[in-house]
Amino acid sequence: MEKVAELQGIRKVYFKPDGSVLVEALRGIDISVVAGEYIAIMGASGSGKSTLMNVLGCLDRPTEGAYLLDGRDVAQMPDDELSRVRGRKIGFVFQAFNLISELTIVENVEVPLFYQGVPRHIRRQRAIDCLGLVGLADRLGHRPKELSGGQQQRVAIARALVTDPAVIMADEPTGNLDSTTGEAILELFESLHERGMTILMVTHDPAIAERCERIIRLRDGLVEFDGPGGRARFDAQRRESSGRRADATEASSR
Ligand SMILES: Nc1ncnc2c1ncn2[C@@H]1O[C@H](COP(=O)(O)OP(=O)(O)O)[C@@H](O)[C@H]1O
Ligand SMILES: [Mg+2]
Repeated sequence: MEKVAELQGIRKVYFKPDGSVLVEALRGIDISVVAGEYIAIMGASGSGKSTLMNVLGCLDRPTEGAYLLDGRDVAQMPDDELSRVRGRKIGFVFQAFNLISELTIVENVEVPLFYQGVPRHIRRQRAIDCLGLVGLADRLGHRPKELSGGQQQRVAIARALVTDPAVIMADEPTGNLDSTTGEAILELFESLHERGMTILMVTHDPAIAERCERIIRLRDGLVEFDGPGGRARFDAQRRESSGRRADATEASSR
């Protein structure tokens, strides 16, 4: 299986201005992400989720440890190179959508390609394709404020997809949405997962995490649990208990 991201012994320390340790936000994280995985990152407030996402998303560098993203060591990369890698490899979806209100929907989706110097007509076509994928092909010329929250989050997802990233990272993507709209966004993530997209999602909601393939739970800057979530675990338990029943039947017939 192709590894998209591999963290080895990742530590992140925030220092005080005088150089002494303020917080050890990550205290030794080892995680591998395989292409096509759909992962929930959980943990109490302050456990290090955002710090981990910032490192994984190349928004910040670890204090210590190795980070291979799509085969390249990015842990100690200089800023300009790191931001180039980030632009090419990572698609971000935030709780607050973060769209540019002065731009139309299609222009918003084009922004990451603009920064990569992709020519105008190619930019436009790719943005239209991605908006089609999230069900907004008929809203190209609208501005964000003319759309509902759920539609704005769809635009943000199209913007995350437009660079054809190796990983989509979403921090509480349904946190600002009502439950019906949130459900539709989750279904969109699930359909992207079925198309082979690698997705990491921070969530507080156990019901959402249960729908992912794998759950990574942090506690005080360490991985407390890393294992199958929801569907995968349910299937495994069913196999195990039907196996036990089969064993019992076998034993009683002896
Ligand atoms: N920029 C920062 N400077 C200092 N401490 C920080 C900074 N960012 C986060 N922290 C601290 O690191 C720890 C982990 O924070 P965070 O990753 O935001 O947790 P979570 O997202 O799980 O709530 C917390 O103790 C937090 O106060
Ligand atoms: Mg956070």
